[in-house]
Amino acid sequence: MEEKLIATTNFGMEALTKRELLDLGYEDLRVEDGKIEVLGSLEDIPKLNLSLRTAERIFLKVGEFQAETFEELFDKIYEISWTDILNENSNFIVEAKSQKSKLFSLSDIQRISEKAIIKKMQTKFKREWFEKSAERVRIEVNFSKDIAYILIDTSGDGLHKRGYREINYKAPLTETIAAGLVMLSFYKEDRFLHDPFCGSGTILIEGAMIAKNIAPGLMRKFDFENFKFLDPKFFKDEKKKCYEEIAYNKKLEISGSDISYKAIEIAGANAEILGLDEDIKFFQKDINDLDLPDNYGIIITNPPYGERLAKKEAPLLNKSLGELYKSLPTWSFYVITAAENFQKDFGKKADRKRKLYNGRIKTYYYQYYGPKPLVRKR
Ligand SMILES: C[S@@+](CC[C@H](N)C(=O)[O-])C[C@H]1O[C@@H](n2cnc3c(N)ncnc32)[C@H](O)[C@@H]1O
Repeated sequence: MEEKLIATTNFGMEALTKRELLDLGYEDLRVEDGKIEVLGSLEDIPKLNLSLRTAERIFLKVGEFQAETFEELFDKIYEISWTDILNENSNFIVEAKSQKSKLFSLSDIQRISEKAIIKKMQTKFKREWFEKSAERVRIEVNFSKDIAYILIDTSGDGLHKRGYREINYKAPLTETIAAGLVMLSFYKEDRFLHDPFCGSGTILIEGAMIAKNIAPGLMRKFDFENFKFLDPKFFKDEKKKCYEEIAYNKKLEISGSDISYKAIEIAGANAEILGLDEDIKFFQKDINDLDLPDNYGIIITNPPYGERLAKKEAPLLNKSLGELYKSLPTWSFYVITAAENFQKDFGKKADRKRKLYNGRIKTYYYQYYGPKPLVRKR
């Protein structure tokens, strides 16, 4: 059966998720701001959730209709075959969104939709009262220009929650963005990769997962695991395939440093959860004392930034990063920051600048390309 699946992304990441989908063999894609519609089958739900590194959530579309009154909304929601989707004890949660539509009160959209679903369940299951168990099904009623899209959230928790980052150190990047930053660089497993402001190690851990082909969803749970319309075999088979495709023996040269010992401890513990502690070396170092060999490596980093630091500390650290760049003529540098004057402080205009949203925060990804290595290390 042909299903409409929707992969949502952070703004600015759509092209990357599209590239991932094309690499997985999907062709019929419709890209809009923050989302990509994919034609597939139910079997693709585990596959997309397990494999996509830059998507935020995977939705299954179960309805699409025009509604300009609450009566219309009720009737059309009622028409959907909810009893094929929900169990008698499903803990279903309706969330509403609306833009440029006559129906705009989110609490009313939510209430009416919920009422229609319950009414359908009562009629079909011939009972008045439903016990809600822990089995969560998030339903999104999303209005845009008077069209309602009825979506089932198959992921549950956002896909940035990979399950390896149990503890965070100050202002970590989301894992989906970190993976995107690595994908936008020319990092390949035969290059050196370093992050001089590594914090919880997110960029490096995502880099190592890409290099070793570790699917990002292997360590976590998904809401679809409890969906009655999804054969558990699909998930089991896909997971097995993902494990078989891991390049366990690939040797990586990845390192991370940070001025904080606490950060180094946390980053190391996070890498260990994935069995990547042999692949990534973390060490405590102030960027001003950092000494790296000039060996065609790649720096991908997220320097400290925030209101408190913006005036004095952040510009000085960006200057230090610029000094490091000058001392490493064969390296490429990739820097994500919200700092407005980054290029001035760094001391060089970037070869490419790209706008990305880290959640709601507008940031830029500055890319400085070093020379291509003449001979590959291996
Ligand atoms: C924005 S955080 C990086 C977060 C990281 N990308 C992550 O996902 O966890 C910036 C990091 O820079 C570190 N830092 C601050 N001053 C530093 C310095 N002089 N040298 C090295 N690291 C420094 C902080 O300890 C902090 O962990």
